[in-house]
Amino acid sequence: MSAAISAHTGLLGLLGHPVGHSKSPLIHNRLAEHFDLDLRYLAYDVEPDSLRAAAEGAYALKIKGLNVTVPHKQAIREFVAAEDEMASRIGAVNTLKREANGWHGYNTDMPGFLRALDSDGVSLKGKNVVVLGAGGAARAIVCGILESGVNKLLIFNRTLENAVKMQEYFAGFYPEADMTCASSAEDLVTVMKTCGDDWIAVNTTSVGMYPNVDDILIDDKRFYELCRTGVDIIFNPPVTSFMKAVEGAREGNRAYNGLKMLLFQGVRSFEIWNDVEVPDEVAMEIYDELLKG
Ligand code: ATR
Repeated sequence: MSAAISAHTGLLGLLGHPVGHSKSPLIHNRLAEHFDLDLRYLAYDVEPDSLRAAAEGAYALKIKGLNVTVPHKQAIREFVAAEDEMASRIGAVNTLKREANGWHGYNTDMPGFLRALDSDGVSLKGKNVVVLGAGGAARAIVCGILESGVNKLLIFNRTLENAVKMQEYFAGFYPEADMTCASSAEDLVTVMKTCGDDWIAVNTTSVGMYPNVDDILIDDKRFYELCRTGVDIIFNPPVTSFMKAVEGAREGNRAYNGLKMLLFQGVRSFEIWNDVEVPDEVAMEIYDELLKG
């Protein structure tokens, strides 16, 4: 990022609603600085009714790339000229890259999730994994888990029907995958027990997010005793009730929050926009800044 804004300065940005607490400007402006690119990244609060105008207007203004966040990740698909295969499979676009024929859509939540786990030394290959939740955020995570070649995937959701729908959808892409759904802790624990006690559990719901920090999706000690690793997509609070329950269940258990996933989805978007590779050390310097708040 050059020191002063000039007539050549390029723009990147975020479309979401709300965006007031977004950490993306920090991530991308630091990355632009690192690569000495004359770019600025701004957050735009776009109401659903204005999404088309925002996408078309940003394209007309020759904005180079956009992130798209809640609640627009599905709706934005209507305004892309082409979509990456994984974004289509997940059914959500969180990154737009400007191309000659319009916006091209990508999903970087999935690679962000996988790179965050990798950075924490968590490998999914051959493991038994339980995903809590079957909403929008679960889709990129389930897709990433299936891409990683896990042994067994369990999908736990309050509404069984939503879990089954997601299972059936992804079975179309991963016919060999061993997937099971559950909607009660009792059923979940029963299935988990048949596959050992070193499960990786991923919370994809917003249960436990600030200000409802004491909420927890599963309040059954037996579940946590079967988990070795917990991953929460929430990062506020930094240690969620779910993470505490995983870490408190047994000696040696580890839990991680969603801040690295947020960081690495941003990193991947930046790589797509600028055709660069962001080294881990650079990403981790930004991570340290994010931790400071
Ligand atoms: P997102 O797009 O952010 O994932 P979502 O689509 O509303 O949000 O999905 C939220 C997920 O969290 C769903 O799996 C939802 O369960 P249902 O399918 O039964 O609605 C789950 N969820 C949200 N609040 C919950 C709560 N208080 N208890 C249990 N599950 C909850």
